Amino acid sequence: MGGLSLASSLSSQGMRGTIKKESFGKTTGGEQIELYSLSNKKGMEVSITNFGATVVTLKVPDRAGKAADTVLGYDTLDGYEKGTSYFGATVGRYGNRIAGGKFSLDGKTYTLPKNNGENTLHGGIVGFNKKVWKAREIASKAGESLEMTYLSADGEEGFPGNLSAKVVFTLPAERNELKIDYTATTDKDTVLNLTNHSYFNLAGEGNGDILDHVMTLHAKQFTPVDKGLIPTGELKNVGGTPMDFNSATAIGKRINESDEQLVFGKGYDHNWVLTRAGGGSGLLVAAEAYDPKSGRKLEVLTTEPGVQFYSGNFLDGAKGKGNKPYPQRAAFCLETQHFPDSPNHPNFPSTLLKPNVVFHSQTVFRFSAK
Ligand code: BGC
Repeated sequence: MGGLSLASSLSSQGMRGTIKKESFGKTTGGEQIELYSLSNKKGMEVSITNFGATVVTLKVPDRAGKAADTVLGYDTLDGYEKGTSYFGATVGRYGNRIAGGKFSLDGKTYTLPKNNGENTLHGGIVGFNKKVWKAREIASKAGESLEMTYLSADGEEGFPGNLSAKVVFTLPAERNELKIDYTATTDKDTVLNLTNHSYFNLAGEGNGDILDHVMTLHAKQFTPVDKGLIPTGELKNVGGTPMDFNSATAIGKRINESDEQLVFGKGYDHNWVLTRAGGGSGLLVAAEAYDPKSGRKLEVLTTEPGVQFYSGNFLDGAKGKGNKPYPQRAAFCLETQHFPDSPNHPNFPSTLLKPNVVFHSQTVFRFSAK
């Protein structure tokens, strides 16, 4: 990648893949930031920085075996420090919106900074995406892992409890997938919703829009929103609406319909309620996206109850990697998560985390090509 210093380069040969560490520069506050590149023997390479525990590049082969970088982002740390789109970042303490920047817990009302109109989005003004995480490389027979930890202090961005968060990214040696394991503990009751905010374009970042990508969402319901993108609380059946992706459908096919939900979102920007036959919280395939041109396919598996399918509606042509513009709908996100604004909706799956309980969730981005 351009603009990277190789000065503190370090390579470690795992059993089956490699991890390379290099400098990603210094923050404006003077903190040294690293970029770790994990690769396997199947042609996949992922680079991740400890600034925001952010996925910077994600290279996977197309049907001809040619790799391309399938995620939006920036060439340098500066882009991530200034950026407002959450490219590739770990989002926390609470992913998506909390209405009015307020919620009650154990009889106390907590007030959060509002950074999205009247609401709090993605953890507030300085979310986990802007924090410096501690990184540790872990190599095993199964592949290469990178552990990122961050301690969010009691009261940070208005949230109660010292929260200890850990995100482990794993690139298996024998499969083209990025596995993300989240764990967290707290010393006071708090609310938590962690996700990864990668923006995918399976044709390669900066390579047109994603309207021809074909999407499948394994969900019979979604959570409709008001014009501030706050859930109304209803779980609505997708049947007969442009939100029904139970059969593979091009993203662009219905996106400009006059449906009120699409108007509010300026496209797709909603939480789908994943269909879990018999309940439970096992790993299931939540979504599948396919790019007919390159043949690349992404499957998203998760233990979470929901997925936010966001069709990049607020991208505005600002430049990313290689000075390429990222216009509206240049990428899509599939943010596995608990539902937006859950702390204010007792009928949604709970996002409460109590002391002495270890939170764990897993999401897998699995790639193939045909
Ligand atoms: C939200 C969008 C928001 C985007 C970038 C998504 O998770 O649902 O409304 O614009 O993140 O912040």
